[in-house]
Amino acid sequence: MPVVPLKDIVDRAFTERYGVAAINVVNDLTLEAVLAGAVEQRSPLIVQTSVKTVRSIGLDLLYAMWRELTAGIEVPVSLHLDHCPDRSVITSCLRKGWNSVLFDGSSLPVAENQRQTVEVVAEAKSYGASVEGEIEAITGVEDDIGSDDEASRQSLPVALDFIRSTGIDVFAPAIGNAHGLYRSEPKLDAERVSDIVAAQPIPIALHGGTGMTDAQFSDLIARGCAKVNISTALKVSYMKSNLTFLRDAETRGSWDPPSLFTAVRAAVVDMAVTHMRRFGSVGKAW
Ligand code: 13P
Repeated sequence: MPVVPLKDIVDRAFTERYGVAAINVVNDLTLEAVLAGAVEQRSPLIVQTSVKTVRSIGLDLLYAMWRELTAGIEVPVSLHLDHCPDRSVITSCLRKGWNSVLFDGSSLPVAENQRQTVEVVAEAKSYGASVEGEIEAITGVEDDIGSDDEASRQSLPVALDFIRSTGIDVFAPAIGNAHGLYRSEPKLDAERVSDIVAAQPIPIALHGGTGMTDAQFSDLIARGCAKVNISTALKVSYMKSNLTFLRDAETRGSWDPPSLFTAVRAAVVDMAVTHMRRFGSVGKAW
């Protein structure tokens, strides 16, 4: 299976109770590396781009990279726009060919968020694309979007009404998770995932995956977290592998860029594969 709608990937994972890594890439090297990891492990994969990455690389070039690197790919993959409060960026990505978008209306009053999410769902549907929705900000800043202040959580009826009235494909609740690095093991409200899923069976997006424990992942995936977001782990493996290689290059007085790319690629493939194993998606390609 090649590039597929995100809904196809998360619905299967939700039914079979495994998680699919949704990894934020930052350039061509990281995009190629995470796709290679998925192919090697016969795993489905969601590739995410932040608005910052769309802007820094440029929509056309980023999409051309995706198209070229997924041409002929034999595992199910999907391209998703992460947290986007800007409707014009959503429209541009959908028009270009992104398979899914997260309309981030979490800073809006719920009624207005709901109204706009209904519009985004209709727009995405016309392209065969999926929509993730959220009504509470996820704590922490992800590529310049968000805040470190914890947002207040909405009640279960408000969350359910939002899911049902908008027709979103994936829901991203705040459960004590946060973007970036946790200072200590996060205290997660796993029961909230079960409460939502019991009342309305919908694949849940688990944000802030970097730094959660294996036990937390297994528990949350079993409760319905079918999409598991990983961004910080990629940034750390990318930058630290660069740093290690460059320090060594300096010691050796040897400056060969292709060797640097090979070392960094290996680190990013390893990071991606480690998460696929932890989430139980290895061998789940169809
Ligand atoms: P991390 O920063 O914990 O990797 O979370 C990523 C994320 O949720 C992107 O939306």
